[in-house]
Amino acid sequence: MTLQLDDRQRAMLAEMGVRLFDPAPAEAAAVEVASTETARALQAPAPRATPAAPASVTTASPPGLPERVLAPLSGPVADMDWDTLTQTVAACQACGLCHSRRNTVFGVGDRQADWLVVGEAPGEMEDLQGEPFVGPAGQLLDNMLRAIGLGRHENVYIANVLKCRPPGNRNPEPAEVAQCEPYLRRQVALLQPKIILAMGRFAVQSLLGSTEPIGKLRGQIHHYAGVPVVVTYHPAYLLRNLPDKAKAWADLCLALDQVESAG
Ligand code: URA
Repeated sequence: MTLQLDDRQRAMLAEMGVRLFDPAPAEAAAVEVASTETARALQAPAPRATPAAPASVTTASPPGLPERVLAPLSGPVADMDWDTLTQTVAACQACGLCHSRRNTVFGVGDRQADWLVVGEAPGEMEDLQGEPFVGPAGQLLDNMLRAIGLGRHENVYIANVLKCRPPGNRNPEPAEVAQCEPYLRRQVALLQPKIILAMGRFAVQSLLGSTEPIGKLRGQIHHYAGVPVVVTYHPAYLLRNLPDKAKAWADLCLALDQVESAG
C-alpha cells in the first residue's frame, strides 16, 4: 500500500518509530509500509497536515468494555463553567498534594476541541510551569499529535487525572485520584470531545475503571460518560520502549478513524 506524506509527517513518523521505505525516486512522494503492524496502522485514515477529509478506511474494532455507570456529579463542581472550575482547582486542598505542589496543572488547549488527551499527573516541569506535558514526554506527545495534523492548541485539549504533582513523581494514590476525578469529569462535560485518548494505566483506571493491561484494552472503542475512548501507551513509557511507538501510531489512527466516522 502507498500513502502520500509530506516531509513534516515523515519526520514525525520517524520520531514515533514508524519506519518507511522509500521506493524509486520517481515515486518519492509515495512510501511503502515497512511492517505488518505499521501496515495495519496505516490502513486507518492517512495523516493530514490540514483538516481536509482523509480517505476513510474504517477498521472494524472489537467492542470495548461495557460502559461504566457513573453516579451523577454532585456538588458545586457539577455546574461550574471553565473559569470557575479553573479557579476551584487552583485553590483545591482536597488532598495532601496541595502542600507540596508549586502550581496546579489544570489543562491546556482548545476548549472547542474534538480531542481530549488524558495523562497521569504533572511531573516536575509541569508543576513548575503549570502546564501538562511540557517535558520530554510532552515533546513526544506533541510530535504524535503533529503526525495526525493536530497541535496542543489546535483541536486538542490536554489534561491529567491528577491536577497536582505527586512528590518525587510517585504513582497517584487511589484517594488522590478519587478526589480529583470530579474535575476531570467536569472537563469532559464542558468539552464534549469526540474522542478521549487515555494515555497510560492511571488514565485508563480512572476513566474506564479497569486494571487490565494497556495491551489488552488497545484496539477497541471504550466509553466514558458517553464519549468514545481509545487506550494507548503513555508517552513516558514509549520513550523507554521505542518499538511500541508503532502501536501508539495504530492507536492514533483508530482514534482518528473514530472522530471521522462520528462526522
Ligand atoms: N506525564 C503526565 O501524565 N502528565 C504530564 O502532564 C506530564 C507527564
